[in-house]
Amino acid sequence: MTAITPTAASSKDRVVIFDTTLRDGEQCPGASMTYEEKLEVAELLEEMGVDVIEAGFPIASQGDFEAVQEIARRAGPDVTIAGLARAISGDISRAAEAVRVAKRPRIHTFVSTSPIHLAHQMKKSEEQVLDIIAATVAQARNLVEDVEWSAMDATRTPIEYLIRCVDAAIKAGATTINLPDTVGYSVPDEYAAMFRAVIERVPNSDKAIFSTHCHDDLGLAVANSLAGVAGGARQIECTINGLGERAGNAALEEIVMAIRTRGDVLPYSTAVETTMLTRASKLISAVSAFPVQYNKAIVGRNAFSHESGIHQDGMLKNAETYEIMTPESVGVKATSLVMGKHSGRHAFREKLKDLGYELGDNALEDAFKRFKDLADRKKHVYDEDIEALVGDEVATASETIRLLSLTVIAGTGGPAKAIISLDVDGTHITKEVAGNGPVDATFNAITAIVPHQAKMSLYQVHAVTEGTDAQAEVSVRLEEDGKSVTGRGADPDTMVASAKAYLSAVNKIAVKRQRQHAQAASA
Ligand code: KIV
Ligand code: ZN
Repeated sequence: MTAITPTAASSKDRVVIFDTTLRDGEQCPGASMTYEEKLEVAELLEEMGVDVIEAGFPIASQGDFEAVQEIARRAGPDVTIAGLARAISGDISRAAEAVRVAKRPRIHTFVSTSPIHLAHQMKKSEEQVLDIIAATVAQARNLVEDVEWSAMDATRTPIEYLIRCVDAAIKAGATTINLPDTVGYSVPDEYAAMFRAVIERVPNSDKAIFSTHCHDDLGLAVANSLAGVAGGARQIECTINGLGERAGNAALEEIVMAIRTRGDVLPYSTAVETTMLTRASKLISAVSAFPVQYNKAIVGRNAFSHESGIHQDGMLKNAETYEIMTPESVGVKATSLVMGKHSGRHAFREKLKDLGYELGDNALEDAFKRFKDLADRKKHVYDEDIEALVGDEVATASETIRLLSLTVIAGTGGPAKAIISLDVDGTHITKEVAGNGPVDATFNAITAIVPHQAKMSLYQVHAVTEGTDAQAEVSVRLEEDGKSVTGRGADPDTMVASAKAYLSAVNKIAVKRQRQHAQAASA
């Protein structure tokens, strides 16, 4: 039996952390990730000690299937890889095919149980849904040993019927029972009471682990998740940065740090290495192009800054006066090596190690050159600058279209003009193109050299650090044939960062096209 059994890591009850950033998080409008980005996220989640990674929804697309399968193939023995499936036979067999290669595979199948969903969406009776649960859970259980069943919209389901559904799922072989607050409607006492009632009244409830899954429509997702645990759940489904449908899901970093910080009233433990939370947050923000709000708990940039004189005075006397957890405990460096134009390769390599990056010799050399170039142009080089620079380096490594130079002429005098030179598969091409403003001119010039039909659905700029010499980090999302890709670029010059981001997205589109052609040719 490969199902996760929470073991007492100490005297505290172990809570299974189920991360659904790659499924529910990615489902959020505009947050889609590329294949490579999904693999990178999964690798980080595994390293961080997440117990279950819901890697995607294999039936949704060929791309989703391939990403789930590759994540499953690469996963080690300590992490469970789940694939989502509706209560439909084809979904379940596809999910099984994708996760089967994992050392710990799980099928997560769900069906709606609330009257409003049954009447309007499913157009099925309660008895019909009970039959569907029995048949689909049994099918999944014949394919893998670890089966999670979810009662979609559980919190708006009458308790008597919910109990019958859970009973049917456990009898058919479900090893985890998830009771989601799909629409973010519940409140903590009510959510806890639902778990207590179900666990108490379903005869075989001890045969399964109960799980929470909360959405944040009323801002209660984390509070509800913790209340669910108080009610008997021992798995929490959550996402990094709270990414997810509508207002998002319960934020993993908040749950893990609440459990760690308030062990006096939350007597549970998780296996998550909390010092990796900030890195995970940054990665998810970058690949999803969803910025983290400054005052976001745990991972917001202000989460450990103290502005008021009284707070600063207290902090200088004793950090515990105003900090309930240390910045180091979530991976924020309180003091940092100051990096500048006089820093050498050794310090740079050490700094990268500190930030969690191990680059090969060539990539390190390239990154070092870019760092020197940045340090020449910018007074203070912060950790965030280096992360942006290295992130950019990692992203550009496999690109075939590269920026060689860019000059932009803009102002009140007339239409903006961009003169751009690109290296396209080894050929240098230069164009001069006008546009409605400097960004438009730059993007038009790129499109003149690399024609494409993709529509831009997002252009976002944010300053990585403070000051007018801060690096700009730009995200650009392009959509073609119903698929979207996000490119990122960083540079102290916003136009150069914009060009890099646009080119990164164009490169990704080219890779997608190549992959589609290869698939069509081999079909
Ligand atoms: O919110 C929800 O109900 C879900 C299910 C698929 C588990 O995401
Ligand atoms: Zn959900």
